[in-house]
Amino acid sequence: MGRRRKSDKLTECRIQNKTISVNPYTILDDKILAAVALLQAGETVAFPTETVYGLGADASNPLAVQKIFEIKDRPNYHPLIVHIAAASQLPVWAQSIPDDAWRLAEAFWPGPLTLILQRSGQVPNEVTGGQDTVGLRVPDHPVATTLLRAFGGGIAAPSANRFGQVSPTTAQHVHDKLGVMVGMILDGGPCRIGVESTIVSLVHGEAVLLRPGRLSVEAIEDTLNKKLLLTQPISAKVRASGMLNSHYAPATPIEIHPADELWLRAHQLASLGYKVAVLNLSDNNKCASSAEITRFQMPLLADEYGRELYASLHRIDHANFDRILAEAPPATQEWVAINDRVRRAAQGTANKTEILVRADNR
Ligand code: TXA
Ligand code: MG
Repeated sequence: MGRRRKSDKLTECRIQNKTISVNPYTILDDKILAAVALLQAGETVAFPTETVYGLGADASNPLAVQKIFEIKDRPNYHPLIVHIAAASQLPVWAQSIPDDAWRLAEAFWPGPLTLILQRSGQVPNEVTGGQDTVGLRVPDHPVATTLLRAFGGGIAAPSANRFGQVSPTTAQHVHDKLGVMVGMILDGGPCRIGVESTIVSLVHGEAVLLRPGRLSVEAIEDTLNKKLLLTQPISAKVRASGMLNSHYAPATPIEIHPADELWLRAHQLASLGYKVAVLNLSDNNKCASSAEITRFQMPLLADEYGRELYASLHRIDHANFDRILAEAPPATQEWVAINDRVRRAAQGTANKTEILVRADNR
């Protein structure tokens, strides 16, 4: 009874903008059933995972999957991850599954790990972009788990943002960027990890890291008892959009600077009339916010920084800054995924930065 009352209190239904708050402690409720009905009808549902929010559709329905590409404005040759409720569903979507896949699934699912495997005949071309492999993941979020169990099938879901932009870590981010285009947005609160899953390819007998994430390379190597191969970004063979250098970019141009150059650059841009957002890491008390410069003090722990990063970028984009200056994160193992995303964000806006730099020089 106690749980039921808590559930009633927490459950809030905002039908008018199609964002539905879901009590993460609810086992199954009418909101989840409504989402399942939409998926079965070939519509899209945005839902929370522990990494970022996904834009989901029935993975076995090509027309439904096509809607994801339209909403995201994503090129249709970029493959999608199929989310499943449990590792036991792997053989539905993949074939020739190597022992390494079962080992990783056993160790890390549900969790922030995507496995690239040989696809089965069940997977539509629309999901894989015509490739003979498929990305699979069991997410670790109570809303995602309940939705997947109730739906029964696989849910194809990229991050719920427009192609190339910053991933959403709250339902509000999804609503702001995709809004009415999505059938329903399930609100399960802010994402616990905030950075997309680690992607490991296990095809052709090799274990290759395609995208770093919260789950560390060491943890994966320890489980496999072998080294992961590391790819160069943008391989000709594997089309993983997260590997494009320009991915995860905010609308505001972003530059990365070491701590000792950060504030010099901030003051230089401010003197030219730029409104500057500084993602500060060091404990540098000399550098305070001013009329032109706003200091965002980022968490010193990598996990907390990861949780905050996209939310900060979304907030800065909303506030109409001219430039983001990010203090270079530490170069240690636990910061690998964050360095990867910050660097891609900077590369994604490099053209805009150049334009503004040229303007500075005029
Ligand atoms: O944490 C995550 O992975 C989130 C949540 C929603 O699960 N999803 C996500 O999806 O980040 P997306 O589409 O934004 O990024 C998935 C990446 C893309 O870069 C895609 O190209 C790659 O996975 N991918 C999917 N299937 C693949 C395949 N068969 N081979 C290589 N890369 C693949
Ligand atoms: Mg994405």
